[in-house]
Amino acid sequence: MTVHIGAAPGDIAETVLLPGDPYRAKWAAETFLENPQLVNEVRGMLAYTGEWKGNRVTIHGSGMGMPSLSIYANELIRDYNAKTLIRIGSCGGMQDKVKIRDIILAMTASSISTPSSGIFKEFNFAPPADWTLLKNAVAAAETRKSNYHVGSIYSSDVFYDERPDLNKEMTRHGILGVEMEAAELYNLAARYGVRALAVLTVSDHLLTGEALPSEDREKSFGDMVEIALEAAFT
Ligand code: ADE
Repeated sequence: MTVHIGAAPGDIAETVLLPGDPYRAKWAAETFLENPQLVNEVRGMLAYTGEWKGNRVTIHGSGMGMPSLSIYANELIRDYNAKTLIRIGSCGGMQDKVKIRDIILAMTASSISTPSSGIFKEFNFAPPADWTLLKNAVAAAETRKSNYHVGSIYSSDVFYDERPDLNKEMTRHGILGVEMEAAELYNLAARYGVRALAVLTVSDHLLTGEALPSEDREKSFGDMVEIALEAAFT
């Protein structure tokens, strides 16, 4: 047990998928894993461990935003020995070529600040995804004929962003999408020598104002979960 995770030692697999929403962790575990067992529910942050094609995997909610993800990822890596952590979540599209329901494989995650900013100070550390996970995810997306993009994303610390010029500059510099967790996950992976990737589904669009209807979300999110699982175990 740690401060925020009630799992017993050994209850957490070396490979952990991290959706922001704890109920999506429950849905993904019940949909994709064999014999899913609830291993954490402290503060309602549900986590399940089960098997996918004979491989042990945990699906653990991360909560919204980098401070929340940082708590769970720190404890999963440092106390439970997680070695591969893949964020599965939604993002806002920031390029015309990026459409609603597309998948973004985040090669790097830019940010203004993260929970690690105190370490880096004025240095702009550019945390990358793990190359093998990224390569495997690309292969999985190709096989599934998913509409996917590989490139940079931006991890914001605000959802209701009052800085329109910032988003314009992100778009001008090729940022594919905005979400709120990946940069800190990549920082922690670099710090502790573990593998990380963010596989994201475009749920809304900053240029067009479109948003994914809630009834469509499950199917689109399912593709993302399977790409993440393929990437981890290829
Ligand atoms: N996650 C999904 N859509 C988002 C957006 N527009 N901004 C930040 N995070 C998001």
